[in-house]
Amino acid sequence: MSRSAHPAGPRHADVLPEGHYSAPAADLNALDEKVWSRTVTRDADGALTVGGIAVARLAEEFGTPAYFLDESDFRARCRAWADAFGPDADVFYAGKAFLSRAVVRWLKEEGLHLDVCSGGELTTALDAGMPAERIAFHGNNKTVAEIERAVEAGVGRIVLDSFQEIVRVAHIAQRHGVRQRVQIRVTVGVEAHTHEFIATAHEDQKFGIALADGQAAEAVRRALSLDGLELIGVHSHIGSQIFDMAGFEVSARRVVQLLAEIRDEHGVELPEIDLGGGLGIAYTSDDDPREPHEIAKALSDIVTRECEAAKLRTPRISVEPGRAIVGPTAFTLYEVGTIKPLEGLRTYVSVDGGMSDNIRTALYDAEYSVALVSRTSDAEPMLVRVVGKHCESGDIVVKDAFLPADLAPGDLIAVPATGAYCRSMASNYNHALRPPVVAVREGEARVIVRRETEEDLLRLDVG
Ligand code: LLP
Repeated sequence: MSRSAHPAGPRHADVLPEGHYSAPAADLNALDEKVWSRTVTRDADGALTVGGIAVARLAEEFGTPAYFLDESDFRARCRAWADAFGPDADVFYAGKAFLSRAVVRWLKEEGLHLDVCSGGELTTALDAGMPAERIAFHGNNKTVAEIERAVEAGVGRIVLDSFQEIVRVAHIAQRHGVRQRVQIRVTVGVEAHTHEFIATAHEDQKFGIALADGQAAEAVRRALSLDGLELIGVHSHIGSQIFDMAGFEVSARRVVQLLAEIRDEHGVELPEIDLGGGLGIAYTSDDDPREPHEIAKALSDIVTRECEAAKLRTPRISVEPGRAIVGPTAFTLYEVGTIKPLEGLRTYVSVDGGMSDNIRTALYDAEYSVALVSRTSDAEPMLVRVVGKHCESGDIVVKDAFLPADLAPGDLIAVPATGAYCRSMASNYNHALRPPVVAVREGEARVIVRRETEEDLLRLDVG
């Protein structure tokens, strides 16, 4: 389905073609470790537990809907990425996936760097004590005020995204009497999709400066000529939820070629390259993500090889995983409200959240899994669509899934792999109250982002 098609259209009422959804899992009570965070298991009563705490207790204490984030899993994934890339590389967590002050502290403790792309993310990072030199500031249209703050704070790098920005950042840095470390974001002509990549001469999108037509080379020329800038390297981000390494390899190769051209023209070897984020995770059992060590090896092999061929010193590599770190570490817990069997079609299961806490299904046609988690069941599988409580037929959380046929109002169900781009893209549609994020670790649960209240809504509405 194309992204421009309205999700509330035919997909809602259509009978899905045969084979659109996978067959039910052999055991609906089983929890596939690919999609659930690492400390998730079922207790002796059959209830799902995370960090040793059962969901019934979590629901009672924190309410539903709510996101539960497995802190030890988050930290373990940070370490896995840092270890895989080693001391000669930097891992920047992409804060847009999910950012809070607690997350910033975990990142800091685990030795990661942080990519922010707005004044709000920068404030959160600095407030929680992330050293400014470990912050990269991104965005295709940073405001002058945002650039001022980033320069004043002394961020480790600003990733320049346009010709205007090269001049803007240089002026601001000069006014502050500093040389700002910068990278130039280039569009390498690789459009990456989940399972494929399409090479295009010009990318028809808003980010970066094209390699094509010598645009990026011209940007480098200008950046090198401005006193306010210290050009430390080039940056490429090719897309998101990617499983195939081929797109990254083409990207790495083209970025290294640019470094060689820069050396030939200016006699400088830029010391760094950033290959962006975009590594895919498992949302359903059908997805097969790569492990960080495989990704690190594939990327560093290609960069080393290309640099040897071009007789360049191997630059320091950085990467910016967001989803691959936080995505698998959280699930959303919902309470079932109503159940509507539609004869010959499927059963609609309505939960107490919806597109306000997970817009990805409506926006990207994203696939998710779901499980009954307050108990186990031996009932037959039934084909369900999990929907929210919003006034919109496209308000779908899980399009096609199987739940036990004895599902009843009051049961708790959970959607795994909602750590990335769910709370961070949550809205107040229908004046919904955005759910809390609760961190769970070794038998302790604590709110790291509290639930919105009706008072919060009224406070913004100044009347
Ligand atoms: N670096 C840059 C420059 C980016 O633009 C992004 C994501 C990342 C890193 C992190 O990508 P990740 O590893 O998380 O895939 N809302 C969409 C994803 C938008 C990603 C935007 N940029 C979604 O829910 O799938």
